[in-house]
Parts: sequence; structure tokens; C-alpha cells
Amino acid sequence: MFNLKFTLNGEAAEVLVAHGAMLVDILRDQLTLTGTKKGCGKGECGACTVIMNGIAVNSCMIPAMKAFGSVIETIEGIAPKNGVHPLQESFMDEGAVQCGFCTPGMIMSAKALLDHRPHPTSEEIKEAIGGNICRCTGYVKIEKAIQRAAEEIEKAKNEEVKCQKGRDSCANL
Ligand code: FES
Ligand code: FES
Repeated sequence: MFNLKFTLNGEAAEVLVAHGAMLVDILRDQLTLTGTKKGCGKGECGACTVIMNGIAVNSCMIPAMKAFGSVIETIEGIAPKNGVHPLQESFMDEGAVQCGFCTPGMIMSAKALLDHRPHPTSEEIKEAIGGNICRCTGYVKIEKAIQRAAEEIEKAKNEEVKCQKGRDSCANL
């Protein structure tokens, strides 16, 4: 056993883990963050995607030891207090969710993309979710949802700038 210390969704986390344990199992079984799904368990479906040090990774392929000192984001940590992340909203609005099993992983891959590329091309979106398998929707609505979230995030940023300049009401920001 060893003591795993890392930053999880913005807060310090510490958990005693068995040698050989994989990150996905620590998140789900020990930290009860079951939003991260476990599908294939061998790096092929993307259901277990989390963001580690700014990069989308398959948490079923990350030995927990490797997460020591890292910064991890899971689907539970992306929404603002009392709200939803623009990606969560756009997935719902665009009908990009059916059974929902792939959705947390899709959203985390998309978030990692948008964090680095606020205006992604369709090709970049396809590439970013290339490791995420969806058995239900096809990918058209998912791509549309990611594009829409990018637009919404941009819009919100512009509103914030206007607000800071005192041109508009800040009531909704
Ligand atoms: S569960 Fe990790 S890639 Fe499938
Ligand atoms: S919505 Fe069912 S697998 Fe994607």
C-alpha cells in the first residue's frame, strides 16, 4: 500500500492505495467518483477519460502511483457551483446523449481540447474524441455539441469583458 497524494477537482486528495491499482478504480471505488466510467478497462473505449495535468488520459491505463503529485479533473469537478459546464449544457441541448455511458469521457476529452483550443476546427474535434467510442448516437451531434460549447464559452468571455468595462449589466455573470 502507499499513500497517494494529488489534487483532485481543485482540492487536495489523499488516499491509501494498493500497489498496481489503476487510477480509474481509485476514483470510482475508493473516492466514489463514479461519473468516470469503466468500459473496456484496456485503453480502447475512452469511457474512463479524465484530465491529468491538462491532458485527457484513459484513467484505466494510468497506474495510481503515476498520479502522485498530479492535478486531476473528473466530470464531477467541471461545473461551476449551482450550475453546469457549457459542455454539459450543449450535450443536453444538442441531443448528444442517449444511454450516457460514453458522455463523461466525451466531455472530458472535449474539455481538454477547448482548454487549449478555444476555436477548434471540425477536424480537431474529431481528433480529440477519436479515442472515445459511442455506441448510441453516432458522432454528429456530439461534434455539434462541442462546437456549440466553444461558441458559448467565447460568448460568456466576451460578456465578461464588456461587464468589466462597465458597458453592460453584470447581473447574470
Ligand atoms: S475503460 Fe478505459 S479506455 Fe475503456
Ligand atoms: S450515448 Fe450511449 S454510448 Fe454514447
